[in-house]
Amino acid sequence: MLGAVQLGLLAACVVLFVPMGMAGWHLSRNKVLFFSGALFITLAVGVHLTPYFPSVSDFVTSVSSSSSSSSSSSSSSSSSSGYGGADDVVLVDDNDRGSCVSFLHEIDWEVKPSMDFDPLVHKNSLNYNKSWSWRRSSSVESCEFQRLRRHHVSDLLNGSWVMVAGDSQARIFAMALLGLVLDSERMESVRESLFKRHSNYHVVVAEMGMKLDFIWAPYATNLTNLVMEFKENHVYPDLLVMGCGLWHMLHINNASDFGAELGVLRNSVASLLPISAEFGSDGPVTGSVSVRSPHLFWLGMPTLVNSMLNTEEKKEKMTDLVRVEYEREVERSNMLRKFGGPFQLLDMGSLSWNCGNKCTDDGMHYDLVVYEAGVHILLNALLIESNQKL
Ligand SMILES: *[C@@H]1O[C@H](CO)[C@@H](O)[C@H](O)[C@H]1NC(C)=O
Ligand SMILES: *[C@@H]1O[C@H](CO)[C@@H](O)[C@H](O)[C@H]1NC(C)=O
Ligand SMILES: *[C@@H]1O[C@H](CO)[C@@H](O)[C@H](O)[C@H]1NC(C)=O
Ligand SMILES: *[C@@H]1O[C@H](CO)[C@@H](O)[C@H](O)[C@H]1NC(C)=O
Repeated sequence: MLGAVQLGLLAACVVLFVPMGMAGWHLSRNKVLFFSGALFITLAVGVHLTPYFPSVSDFVTSVSSSSSSSSSSSSSSSSSSGYGGADDVVLVDDNDRGSCVSFLHEIDWEVKPSMDFDPLVHKNSLNYNKSWSWRRSSSVESCEFQRLRRHHVSDLLNGSWVMVAGDSQARIFAMALLGLVLDSERMESVRESLFKRHSNYHVVVAEMGMKLDFIWAPYATNLTNLVMEFKENHVYPDLLVMGCGLWHMLHINNASDFGAELGVLRNSVASLLPISAEFGSDGPVTGSVSVRSPHLFWLGMPTLVNSMLNTEEKKEKMTDLVRVEYEREVERSNMLRKFGGPFQLLDMGSLSWNCGNKCTDDGMHYDLVVYEAGVHILLNALLIESNQKL
């Protein structure tokens, strides 16, 4: 492989001698100047842009290979460009990657009337076509977030036990995650069984050795019971996504009671962590995210569009004011990383707010694409974490 110096010399020779050769062919001085200028610019642009196009697969393979080979490769920071070429290990400085966590939710939506817009369609959201992307700002772009495709997810979650527990939001989130790893035929049958109301769901994705459980747990007390079971049995998932609040808001409608329940949940999860560190090292550690302690995510409550809620009871109880109080309890319970807790927030509140009320039909459940964005945020958070931890 040519070094940077040799390449530079080669480029200089091309810029110098090609136009001189052309002058030999009786080109005018202006044309020679033009050609050498054009050549110089092309080469300069080429040289500076090449390092910025590492492919997704390079990125992902290098992350998983670097994580499975422990810390051995983390010192090989690529010298010339910082992002490395195909042969280099692509590892961005740990601190830089860590700060990327705060940019994960910087997502922009494009919501347009769909081609077959029909005002008579009773489902408002069907009339709009939505797509999302990470914001095109330099700080977000430097984090190189990726929409992971199926084989990347297979690599990342190979051999993992994934559990999603909570209310109907969590159920849709589980479906969005499965949509990323199963083909459409298989998704059809998943959709049927996963949407049996108020039931649990278990699926094994044999190709990638992943199992996923959805646990219907509408109250924080249900989530706490689940954590207690992990503790008793000394088993716990590699990846755990939990979320609740709406159910409590509708049926109990008492924010301080909700806060008290969250406090208990937080403590039981916190007490699980040291134990998991001890037992996890014996367990089968296969996939690149299967590390000693589970990865914990909290699925935040969505934005509520009060006028669209489908019962009078909901409109009365699930007001913006009450939602704010419930949010405050989540913060006060210190369960989120930001406040020193164990859970990383998947901020469905901001995702649904930014997609807007064209992305919901009942003012509380949003289009699958909103949860898909959440899944991609989670996967990128995992990439960042495994980069740091392993
Ligand atoms: C929605 O957008 C996608 C891509 O932006 C496009 O391929 C598709 O045709 C659009 N569908 C409708 C119904 O407008
Ligand atoms: C998952 O890991 C196992 C063992 O490490 C390996 O044999 C298998 O090919 C991997 N599968 C995928 C889809 O990466
Ligand atoms: C959840 O907890 C509530 C109250 O604590 C209880 O009545 C209900 O049976 C539990 N549901 C499940 C699915 O465990
Ligand atoms: C709300 O819950 C708290 C704590 O459980 C309790 O002390 C209080 O009485 C409840 N408020 C109402 C109005 O029920």
